Amino acid sequence: MSQVDRSQVTPIDWDAIRSEFPVTENYLYFDLANKCPLPVFSTQAIEAYIASQQKSGGDKEQWFATVNSARSRFADMINCSIDDVAFTKNTSEGLNIAANCLPLEAGDTVVLNEHEHPNNVYCWLNLKSKGVNVHWIPAPDGFVTPQTLEEHAPKSMKVLAVSSVTYAPGNRNDIHDLARYCRERGVYLVVDGVQSVGTMNVDIDYMGADILCGSGHKALMCPHGVGLLYIRPEIRDRMHPLYVARAGMEMAAQIEYGEISYALEIPQAAKKFEIGNYNYLGLTVLDCALKRLNEIGMSNIEARLLSLNELLSQGLTAAGFELASPRDTSLGSAIVCFRTGNARSLHEYLVRHNAITTVRRDMIRVSLGFYNSSDDIDGFLALLHSWQTTESEG
Ligand SMILES: Cc1ncc(COP(=O)(O)O)c(C=O)c1O
Repeated sequence: MSQVDRSQVTPIDWDAIRSEFPVTENYLYFDLANKCPLPVFSTQAIEAYIASQQKSGGDKEQWFATVNSARSRFADMINCSIDDVAFTKNTSEGLNIAANCLPLEAGDTVVLNEHEHPNNVYCWLNLKSKGVNVHWIPAPDGFVTPQTLEEHAPKSMKVLAVSSVTYAPGNRNDIHDLARYCRERGVYLVVDGVQSVGTMNVDIDYMGADILCGSGHKALMCPHGVGLLYIRPEIRDRMHPLYVARAGMEMAAQIEYGEISYALEIPQAAKKFEIGNYNYLGLTVLDCALKRLNEIGMSNIEARLLSLNELLSQGLTAAGFELASPRDTSLGSAIVCFRTGNARSLHEYLVRHNAITTVRRDMIRVSLGFYNSSDDIDGFLALLHSWQTTESEG
């Protein structure tokens, strides 16, 4: 993951882009890290898909072409080859594929930290019956560094599972640095990338992770049920799929003229982890969303989100809230978390006033989208002020 490349940042009409998101008419929507508000182009793609399936059963050849197009757009976005990308159901499925298909043996250790999402923990704990252990390391404010690994990771470490951006407090880990450390020691680096894909530049070639998992239903503006999995080519032949089906095979003929061969020809491409028919509807939306993200430009999006983060962080600090996310936004992301004495009361107050956030680890999590504006931030800070006044009077 690179920092914003200023030379790639160009003037954008953010007001026009905002109007593509109907949610902005009624809500201060700050919950992209949970689920996306669908933009008009996503709902139009869904309507067209459904109308076509209703009218004619749909065009499967076209659906396959769309799957290929989405794969190629995603590969371009993260700077890898199409062979490195598989579609899954969600981030958790990708993490489970990593946990179950990497060549781990009894006595191996997976290193975790307390800031990981629960779904980047359970899949590793589930390896206990194989004799694979989990070891917890400290990660102050969510940061995992080579130095922490040097001090706290055991010699038996075989996997480091870590988020590129934590779901809370939203700090950004330096995956490039961690990858170098892991590669030198024969450790697999599995990255939960769901909070960075679509919100910032993700250059997987530069980052150097072995595996990266993501979902479509957050910053990639899809309905639920679309996931993305990157696997570094050099490790793929060491990973054997647990489930297999035709779509993942070398020969994936749709029209069965002549004899069927049941030769089990598992390709080396990451798509060997894909099972049966795709989520064609979800991937149709993903294809449109990736096209739109590419038109706007990931550097522009990242710069916008970090500048909104800066504005919000300043306002929160000035209002006396305890910021849990990095104060230095170059270490931060589209997620800003803060603490209050009473997260439940504030969260409920915000919901009543149409400001959508969520609570994670007893912090209010504000997650920004590029459709948010500085007016949204001002409106949110004004709501916090009125809540503070209500609380102090009550
Ligand atoms: C960092 C992180 N990892 C994993 C997940 C689980 O994602 P999914 O439900 O798409 O598998 C989430 C969901 O919020 C998340 O924020």
